[in-house]
Amino acid sequence: MKHTKVIKIEGLDKLYKDGTMALININLNVKKGEIFALLGPNGAGKTSLINSVCGIVKFSKGNIQVFGYDVLKEYRKSRSLIGLVPQELTTDSFETVQNTVSFSRGLFGKKKCDIKIENILKNLSLWDKRKSQIRTLSGGMKRRVMIAKALSHEPEILFLDEPSAGVDVELRKSMWNQIRNLKKSGVTIILTTHYIEEAEEMADRIGILNKGKLIMVERKNRIMKNLGKKIFEITLKKNIKSLPSVFNGFDLEIYSDTKLIYYNNPKNSKTIVDVLDKLKLHSIDVEDITTKRNSLEEIFINIVGQK
Ligand SMILES: Nc1ncnc2c1ncn2[C@@H]1O[C@H](COP(=O)(O)OP(=O)(O)O)[C@@H](O)[C@H]1O
Ligand SMILES: [Mg+2]
Repeated sequence: MKHTKVIKIEGLDKLYKDGTMALININLNVKKGEIFALLGPNGAGKTSLINSVCGIVKFSKGNIQVFGYDVLKEYRKSRSLIGLVPQELTTDSFETVQNTVSFSRGLFGKKKCDIKIENILKNLSLWDKRKSQIRTLSGGMKRRVMIAKALSHEPEILFLDEPSAGVDVELRKSMWNQIRNLKKSGVTIILTTHYIEEAEEMADRIGILNKGKLIMVERKNRIMKNLGKKIFEITLKKNIKSLPSVFNGFDLEIYSDTKLIYYNNPKNSKTIVDVLDKLKLHSIDVEDITTKRNSLEEIFINIVGQK
């Protein structure tokens, strides 16, 4: 290995022949051992980005390195470090699970190793199905076979393009666990998703892609902290129609006659305690207070709306 910077993307553009500009000046570093979620709506360019790194599409401009290896000039080396679970599953095969996964390993020039394949199949709960033909499996099981294939040559990096597409909730949860276990074993994971819950649940860092541009890359917790305003819902004992003018400058709204909404913005110098003090001072009695946080979904809509 030349580098610990696992993936380094600089000035990447992807222009398809029909004139679609799928990626515009992407700059991104992925760190060793992290789970990085590439989040964005359909058509944002997620698959184009992954496929550029994996050498499946030819990018138009910029450069990409995988562990310091140039993905064009040192393709075989860089590709051997990557496992890819593509968005589209090709699984109408009559071949058995075990043979397919074992064959995949061979494609990367790795020596046949039954015990390694056995471990991969066991970790993905596929061992019982090892003799089944792939076409007979359920959608979720097929997805696992694709993961097993991607892991067959023991890659350092695993790309999962929309791993939850067409997978039911239960299988999704178990797949998330398996992905976490892979992380524990030191594999760097990059997944794409348009499900915010998936990014929120899995990722250490999130990159938000929209219309070919990477508009934000942040630690997940920071995305939540910086943009996820905390909201207090204050229920009053009696109806009010308007607020006394002393509340001007407080980030406070009348939601209904008996409800106030207070946005606890980090930039706001007035705290919820100040609000409650002022309410008391003006004999506005409070019955109850509840809090809620913006979801990543709301945050996402906000960011995309600003761009
Ligand atoms: N082979 C292709 N030829 C032309 N345009 C394409 C091709 N593949 C994808 N695109 C376009 O590139 C943009 C990004 O697509 P894609 O990378 O698949 O996005 P995502 O994976 O985020 O849904 C879209 O506008 C899509 O229609
Ligand atoms: Mg896609």
